[in-house]
Amino acid sequence: MSEAVLPSASEAADAVAPGGPFESVDEVVEALREQGYIADTRLATTVFLLTRLDKPLLLEGPAGVGKTELAKMLAVVTGRRFLRLQCYEGQDETKALYEWDYGKQLMYTQILREKIGQVVADAPDLAGAVERIGSQESVFFSERFLAARPLLEAIRSDEPCVLLIDEVDRADEALEAVLLETLGEYQISVPEVGTFVAKHRPYVLLTSNNTRDLAAALKRRCLHLFLDYPSAARELEIVRSKKTGLSDQLAEELVTVVRGLRDLELRKAPSISETIDWARTLAVLGVDEINPQILADTVSVVVKYDKDVKKALDAIPHLVDPNAVVEEHGHGHGHGHEGDHTHDDPPPARAVRSDHPDDGDVDGRAKRAARDEPGRHSLYGGVTAAGGSPRPRPVSPGQGARSFGGSRKRPV
Ligand SMILES: Nc1ncnc2c1ncn2[C@@H]1O[C@H](COP(=O)(O)OP(=O)(O)O)[C@@H](O)[C@H]1O
Ligand SMILES: [Mg+2]
Repeated sequence: MSEAVLPSASEAADAVAPGGPFESVDEVVEALREQGYIADTRLATTVFLLTRLDKPLLLEGPAGVGKTELAKMLAVVTGRRFLRLQCYEGQDETKALYEWDYGKQLMYTQILREKIGQVVADAPDLAGAVERIGSQESVFFSERFLAARPLLEAIRSDEPCVLLIDEVDRADEALEAVLLETLGEYQISVPEVGTFVAKHRPYVLLTSNNTRDLAAALKRRCLHLFLDYPSAARELEIVRSKKTGLSDQLAEELVTVVRGLRDLELRKAPSISETIDWARTLAVLGVDEINPQILADTVSVVVKYDKDVKKALDAIPHLVDPNAVVEEHGHGHGHGHEGDHTHDDPPPARAVRSDHPDDGDVDGRAKRAARDEPGRHSLYGGVTAAGGSPRPRPVSPGQGARSFGGSRKRPV
């Protein structure tokens, strides 16, 4: 059992490598790409700086844009150990820093019952016995019985590591303060044992899905990057890199559709992982043409709330064929389908209907959505009802929402 190794702060500083694992930003891009993570130069530059400056990186952005994945991939490409602290509401610092392994302490006291008996045997009274046990306390509150949680694990790790503090916005502000302290000094004090100072400063990445604003002090201490949905070109590259089986041409069309869906005011906009899932789904179905019918049939892969499904179904024909848009009532292409179909027509048979009522908050996203201003995460700032832009309306009888409720022939 190793003793608590507690190098001084100056020793720890000496241990920090002057260079870094990457010579240039391009090298970061390349290394990540080799592992299937597609980064643009802005992201790669931030990662490069993370490896060169002694600062944690705070990644903010909507769910599913590759924040967590980046931390994992950084560990892979730098050959570092990966440690993760998943944050949640009500989490206390013992789950982040350390706790005492009560079970182990108990087991030792059971086994050592006789020995403990000897220690207190000739104590004159109860107070004296307690005093004697007290004098032995350090035996039981020593590193042996310390259960390190991710922060302490990262600080006292013998090998360099990447520490991901995931979804920090879910944690309470009290935990944020603990993080601040730890990340400011790269050291953790355990009163009974001493102060652990990092032998190797971890690369620290914090992620936030923006359910609440983080403390200004935390932001100040970190490099900061807002990671939004990728450009069309990067998203296409990501889909390609995942070898979904969908042709490049169809993948490109699909990315356009997904980007269009993100412009709608959905409760949960489709993320990169949903684009990938959709591409895989279409490939499995052997689709050789992206048409409204097949997208409607499979839309539940990308939108998971009932209301979102309806909005998506309304928009899909327009997204597949922008010419199918009626700008305003009476100014369309003469198909006579300007009305809102969704009220009359049954929803598609295969659209997954959530078991949760609309206000059933599956994983805090509703809270998130409620706190988010409309379009907060939209790069494109496109069609929103609030913006006064006309909502795309399906018009062609072949493409209209009515056809979604009709025969469910699966085009293969
Ligand atoms: N830049 C990227 N390159 C490759 N895959 C990506 C990229 N961004 C996201 N992904 C894919 O999207 C999925 C979801 O990303 P994740 O890191 O879990 O999102 P977040 O943590 O932002 O919610 C990942 O598992 C990965 O497959
Ligand atoms: Mg994540």
